Amino acid sequence: MKRIAWLTDIHLDFLLTQQVTGFLTSVAALRPDAVLISGDIAEAHSICEYLQRIDEAIGTTIYFVLGNHDYYYGSIAEVRQRVARFCAERPRLHFLTYADVARLTPGIGLVGHDGWADGRLGDYPGSLVVMNDFKLIAELTGRTKKDRWEVLKGLGDEAAAHFRRVLPLAFESCQEVVLLTHVPPWREACWYDGRISDEQWLPHFTCQAVGEAILEIMAARPDKRLTVLCGHTHGQGETQPLDNLLVVTGGAEYGHPAIGRVLEFD
Ligand SMILES: [Fe+2]
Ligand SMILES: [Fe+2]
Repeated sequence: MKRIAWLTDIHLDFLLTQQVTGFLTSVAALRPDAVLISGDIAEAHSICEYLQRIDEAIGTTIYFVLGNHDYYYGSIAEVRQRVARFCAERPRLHFLTYADVARLTPGIGLVGHDGWADGRLGDYPGSLVVMNDFKLIAELTGRTKKDRWEVLKGLGDEAAAHFRRVLPLAFESCQEVVLLTHVPPWREACWYDGRISDEQWLPHFTCQAVGEAILEIMAARPDKRLTVLCGHTHGQGETQPLDNLLVVTGGAEYGHPAIGRVLEFD
């Protein structure tokens, strides 16, 4: 039996040092075989420092993707490269956005990518929501709303292209796969405050490109199973878009990181 702990939106930079240590100690106390983190760990300038603390405190294999907050005060391209280089020297840390297929057990595969809210669901042109992303992430600053939409779509498409490549690859040798991503890929998975987000928030809380890719891949493989683990909205919920596809959106509260779920696999 393998025990896998899943964490999302832990935002460790909101905590005092001893609170970070306390939380990571509680994760380590579960003695998990692996830990999955679906993004929003810290910010651009502190992400590697917190990854190191996670690695040292938990001492087991860590698979993660990054969330929008992990790029705050930096650039997506620079942070991704820096994090990939950082992980290359730490054998327990795995940045799935830059990986192909990992294994949770010999028969259960793991794939992941940050994903990105691509503005395609809900009403992007009419949305009055201004995400901090637009002020704090280099690729998104200094643009008109329309121009920014193209960048958001491009980021969503990049994530979808990753899954179109690695997910079929994973199913070549696995009956069951877990997919880790920061942004919910469907409206039905976009829980916030106990209900589905409205047209104003959906553009900033969902990645339609990834959702379409996953649906296409799973509809063609009714004998395979996929579990999607995501976060970003901080609202908890579960949905099953297909018989062979379960999506879990993890709840989170700033300043109170929690263990989202402990998954057990034979
Ligand atoms: Fe978050
Ligand atoms: Fe987020």
